[in-house]
Amino acid sequence: MDIKEIIDKKSKGKELTKEEIDYFVDGYTNGLVADYQASALLMAIKILGMTEKETFYLTNAMLNSGEIMDLSDLGFIVDKHSTGGISDTTSIALVPICAACGVKMLKLSGRGLGFTGGTIDKLEAFDGFKVDISMDDAKKLVKENGCCIISASSDLAPADKKLYVLRDTTSTVDSIPLIASSIMSKKLASGADAIVLDVKYGKGAFMKTKKDAISLAKLMVKIGEKAGKKMDYVVDDMNEPLGYNIGNRLESYEAIELLSGKKGKLRDVTIDLASKCVSLGLDIDYDSAYKKVVEVIDNKTALEKLKQMIKSQGGSTKLFKGLHLKPTLIIKSDKDGVLTKIDCSMLGTLVGQMGATRQKITDTIDYNVGIKTFHKLGQEIKKGDVLFEIYAKDKTQAKEFSEKFINCYNY
Ligand code: URA
Ligand code: CA
Repeated sequence: MDIKEIIDKKSKGKELTKEEIDYFVDGYTNGLVADYQASALLMAIKILGMTEKETFYLTNAMLNSGEIMDLSDLGFIVDKHSTGGISDTTSIALVPICAACGVKMLKLSGRGLGFTGGTIDKLEAFDGFKVDISMDDAKKLVKENGCCIISASSDLAPADKKLYVLRDTTSTVDSIPLIASSIMSKKLASGADAIVLDVKYGKGAFMKTKKDAISLAKLMVKIGEKAGKKMDYVVDDMNEPLGYNIGNRLESYEAIELLSGKKGKLRDVTIDLASKCVSLGLDIDYDSAYKKVVEVIDNKTALEKLKQMIKSQGGSTKLFKGLHLKPTLIIKSDKDGVLTKIDCSMLGTLVGQMGATRQKITDTIDYNVGIKTFHKLGQEIKKGDVLFEIYAKDKTQAKEFSEKFINCYNY
């Protein structure tokens, strides 16, 4: 087979065979296909799309490039995946909620990079929390507690990892079949029996419209079902931060607040996702699952489950007693208005630049930096209202960023 012929065929809009897609993925992974050849093919795919068949083949080729977890000794395992949001701490609340309902979860999560935070970084804000746990120990934790969250191994779908770096630098991330196969290759490798997807749309997300988010979700559901998994999805809007806090320790604390009864959009989305997980995990209808989910939040068994998970993985439970952080600077509004637009990804970028995410993979992060917001879209803001609490490294940094945060709001 010849990679030039494969690129030529795709560029003419013809459907690639399984053998051709395998040849491309294997060849790129082991260096026989060069970056510029892979880039040309990816660009043809971005422009012309892929058929469902091609997308299945691509997913499987990337899935089979690495290790595939075997969780069969744990019984029925449910997983949840989010395409990434701002102030999105649903996983930290959802995993213990599901476990408290009797649904087992062994969740593999990632770190934050760029403008979105990662669950693993947020969990490390519980001092001492261990994320690099062997699969045997993770399984023990699931048998004992019903859940654990660990760092995703680099052995899952290595072909996707290599291709993703190339896509990121050649403007070929933005393609529904490429995103669907990338996400699903990793999800299928992580061994769960059921997967619930949280696909975001809006300014702070890969998908700009609800329609595209639904197309992406439905395609991933098809890929999962074809692989024998039970699947469901939620789409939700990222035109504003999901919760109120942005920053690692602040977001972990907001998960604790959610499980202690705090209302809002973060809670609503978490309950919706958890209900779908519980429905698949226990094989019951959505309404019955929803009731169980609300019950374990109300009676605090989910909160206790989170505490147990944090303790079992070596983390400090100090944050359960309170935030213990003081804002470096409080910014108040100098005018009246109605909040009509939020530059959500810029809020995430700025908090990242303050030190909450790595700008380079080798950077260390500051768990304490971040902001608290107080308003949602459509809400009235009065002169003198607190707009943001900034939690910075020091006063100088807080002052340097304050104007930039204010500029993220249109009101
Ligand atoms: N997340 C992924 O893992 N892959 C993509 O292509 C986009 C988002
Ligand atoms: Ca299983």
